[in-house]
Amino acid sequence: MKILVTGGLGFIGSHTVVELQNKGFEVVIIDNLSNSSTAVLEGITSITNQLPLFENIDLRDKDAVHNFFEKYTDIAGVIHFAASKAVGESVEKPLLYYENNIGSLVYLLQELQNLPEAHFIFSSSCTVYGQAEKMPIDENSPIQAAMSPYGNTKQIGEEIITDVTKVSNIKAILLRYFNPIGAHSSAAIGELPLGVPQNLVPFITQTAMGLRKELSVYGNDYPTPDGTCIRDYIHVVDLAKAHVVALQRLLDKKNIEKVEIFNLGSGVGSSVLEVIEAFEKVSNQKLAYKIANRREGDVTMAYANTDKANSILGWKTQLSLEEAMESAWKWEQKIRS
Ligand code: WQD
Repeated sequence: MKILVTGGLGFIGSHTVVELQNKGFEVVIIDNLSNSSTAVLEGITSITNQLPLFENIDLRDKDAVHNFFEKYTDIAGVIHFAASKAVGESVEKPLLYYENNIGSLVYLLQELQNLPEAHFIFSSSCTVYGQAEKMPIDENSPIQAAMSPYGNTKQIGEEIITDVTKVSNIKAILLRYFNPIGAHSSAAIGELPLGVPQNLVPFITQTAMGLRKELSVYGNDYPTPDGTCIRDYIHVVDLAKAHVVALQRLLDKKNIEKVEIFNLGSGVGSSVLEVIEAFEKVSNQKLAYKIANRREGDVTMAYANTDKANSILGWKTQLSLEEAMESAWKWEQKIRS
């Protein structure tokens, strides 16, 4: 049986394709190459010796999506990553985000609702919680008004999926990621930030590589032990494995409800300064950084309550922050060599 991975040439998508192949699944990737390249196919294949099927399709093209399901009639499950995901860009170009992230999802679901059964894993985000009151954050934490169009597309996406499962044979699992970082230990795949990285870890590794003058730490006057923001950084390989476990749960019909939600994090909160410290330890070099002003829209603290994923999915992270930073650094050195 084939598994469709949309956005399968992206950061989390490519790592998930590797883990699916490791578990014996045949994978077909849809990607429009807007934020990735076909070189990632070679990276995946160099790890697993299995070349995934690949269709260069833009999911905003309704007919192309329909034709895909005419061609592939044996799709047993779908893991949907394809979406625009830069928070700042979404504020400047909201319609790009609503058209891409919502439009693509609707066209995909329109095809799935016609199948006798469909198993759908959705890439969601802890941003749906905004600044949660209670730490660690569990799945019952209230959904707060989105702080960006990007975050809103995740909230709306969850609602669309929930509504469709009520009137179709689609069963879904929504995975709310915390902060994915790191790269596959082979350094054959990793995060390919185009342009100036918005996220912390690629900015750190690019600074260490000399591509950036220094890292700006966005504020050290937060109400946290060292004054910098706290996040739950999860190794992308651990995150990828969670997708395979979630898919298998649906394929084995172990899901209790038609829509299930899981927070995916390490359960540990790390501050920006602690991430820098972890990097300096694994790279054995000092990082150039300065304290700068707070970044608009940042929450002070967010880390996951992982009880539900641990107990119901039977999944928990295995890799540490230091292992993630080490793999991120190895990847940065590889792509710049
Ligand atoms: C982490 C911390 C920054 C860069 C975002 C998205 C979220 C998800 C993950 C998609 C914050 C600080 C950062 C820098 C810094 N993406 N920082 N200097 O904002 O927690 O989450 O990525 O789903 O939706 O919102 O991640 O890596 O941008 O920031 O000090 O140059 O690092 O202030 O405290 P964030 P991030």
